[in-house]
Amino acid sequence: MKKLLIGNWKMNPENPKLAEDLFSAIKKAPGSTEVEVVILPPAIYIPLLKNRGITIGAQNAYFEKEGAFTGEISMQMVKNMGCKYVLIGHSERRNIFNERDEDMQKKVTAACHVGLIPIFCVGETKRQKNSGNTGKTIKDQLNLLRELEIKDLVIGYEPVWAIGSGDPCDAENAFKMKLLIKKMIAEIFDRDMAERTPIIYGGSVNLGNCQKYIQESKFNGLLVGGASLRKEFGKMISEIE
Ligand code: PGA
Repeated sequence: MKKLLIGNWKMNPENPKLAEDLFSAIKKAPGSTEVEVVILPPAIYIPLLKNRGITIGAQNAYFEKEGAFTGEISMQMVKNMGCKYVLIGHSERRNIFNERDEDMQKKVTAACHVGLIPIFCVGETKRQKNSGNTGKTIKDQLNLLRELEIKDLVIGYEPVWAIGSGDPCDAENAFKMKLLIKKMIAEIFDRDMAERTPIIYGGSVNLGNCQKYIQESKFNGLLVGGASLRKEFGKMISEIE
């Protein structure tokens, strides 16, 4: 399985020129046949960056097909713009935009229906961690996928307390979570699905720590926020191959 290096630009950068510069820097970095680099830019920059040799995905899309949903874009629109992936269930969507479990389920179904691969994020909050509920939290979140019609899937393990905090999960605990998630996927779907579903880590990943999540924690890739806006992102390609 190729490793995934996914850059989640969130609501950055401020203008298309800066988006272009960021993109060019990644293009110039030495590539690898072992790593699939994916950029999740703000939707408004997708037309600028599509079909230019780096896989593109969307940070969000709505589950309805069309109609009176002001401000939203559909999964089919995202697919038609050349995207391969769509991020679903990111903690910022859950917490800031109050996305509910059923919204995420509908989004996963709608994405698969049009042939997009959902990158479904799971992760515990600090409070859940401190009260010993990490495993239960992740299981409950993964259970949302039960009985949905899913062909291809990526799971992002992102401890909420590690996102943007500079306090990443240690490699040993991350490895335990990788194993738990794989076991859960086998239980919810089947062994074949567990073997072929990439499980990636996200939360304060940088050039200095990226390798250990691949080598030691055995993740199949990384979901990078802040560092995907810096020069170091391109360097991560050779670091993790
Ligand atoms: P971070 O963000 O790398 O800035 O912690 C990760 C994410 O939100 O996907």
